Amino acid sequence: MADKVVLAYSGGLDTSVAIRWLKETYNLDVIAVTADVGNERDFSAIREKAVNTGAVKALIIDAKDTFVNDYVFPALRANAIYEGAYTLATALSRPLIAKLLVDIAREEKASAVAHGCTGKGNDQVRFEVSTAALAPELKVLAPAREWGMTRQETIDYAQRYGIPVPITAASPYSIDENLWGKSIECGVLEDPWVEPPEEVFTWTRSPAAAPDAPGYMEIGFERGIPVTLDGQKMDGVSLIQSLNETAGKHGVGRIDHLESRLVGIKSREIYEAPAAVVLLQAHSALETLTLTRDQSRFNDRVAQEYADLVYNGLWFTALRQDLASYVQSAQRFVTGEVRVKLFKGACRIVGRRSPYSLYSHSLATYDEGDEFDQSASPGFIHIWGLPAKTQAQRQNIKPLNT
Ligand code: ARG
Repeated sequence: MADKVVLAYSGGLDTSVAIRWLKETYNLDVIAVTADVGNERDFSAIREKAVNTGAVKALIIDAKDTFVNDYVFPALRANAIYEGAYTLATALSRPLIAKLLVDIAREEKASAVAHGCTGKGNDQVRFEVSTAALAPELKVLAPAREWGMTRQETIDYAQRYGIPVPITAASPYSIDENLWGKSIECGVLEDPWVEPPEEVFTWTRSPAAAPDAPGYMEIGFERGIPVTLDGQKMDGVSLIQSLNETAGKHGVGRIDHLESRLVGIKSREIYEAPAAVVLLQAHSALETLTLTRDQSRFNDRVAQEYADLVYNGLWFTALRQDLASYVQSAQRFVTGEVRVKLFKGACRIVGRRSPYSLYSHSLATYDEGDEFDQSASPGFIHIWGLPAKTQAQRQNIKPLNT
């Protein structure tokens, strides 16, 4: 009996060709695994295609809840955004898919897992490092990196073996999507000077065509996790789906980023991530109300570190876990509601409240009821300014013209 390999199968051209190629090249029986992470697809057609293409087994796994609760929300709580722009949809899904492959490989006693990534991107790193961390004994195969076929040769290979070539192979764009966002690469987008044509956007309306009346919504958080939308309790998946729709309608969530890949390449990336953009902004806003300045600053540093770990494929590492424990603790009081205004591509926070608010009206007000003791300020300023004053006296610091 042939050895088995568990392949992350998308139903696209490369992973379909990979099913046949793994059999031809390594005599491996392929178990195709497709994770449903909210990428609206016809999953029964994908399963059928895998089997027709030669997979000995094809599994579809609904991983939406796991994806949101165990990957997306921890990253949201950490305010993880890569290079100040990318909300990490693809990067967060890869460790989850790797874990599914590993679990199934063990169940099926397969000797290897496989993915369809090329050798130029981040995803190969994420799949392989995640697999190594979870199952160091498993081999990882990367057919599309190994076979060295051009796009046309891959299409020819598919046709030779009667593998249906999806019409999307005709599209110049490379797309990946899940609940947390969609990425679009290739084609004219490879010129960073060219504005993305309207056709690449499918989740968001053009801001110019967005409704003339602003949309308002209230998002309720409990310990940094969004739990209500306009007062209604909602599970994470439904909340994200609903936000993607509403915010997308208002043209919110388009991102155009010149990105630094882990493998050293700069790449032009277009994203649509309406729910992620709104939730990350709302979550940060609630933190400004419920955390001290020192906590917020420290969180900013953790956020960057956390985003880099996610981006760089290091999800299943002790450091990522340790940071997650810190984040969990830091979210104790990040509970409350945020009011968001959506209008023609812009998302603005227009209100925030919390039972743990650190905002004190009687301290802040310039009106009646002021409880701030202004007579304490001169003494505070005297001591606060002492180093600057001493330095001016002793070192004759002159104002610079810059
Ligand atoms: N640049 C993004 C990332 O590295 C998106 C990658 C999209 N992946 C893909 N196979 N199309 O996470």
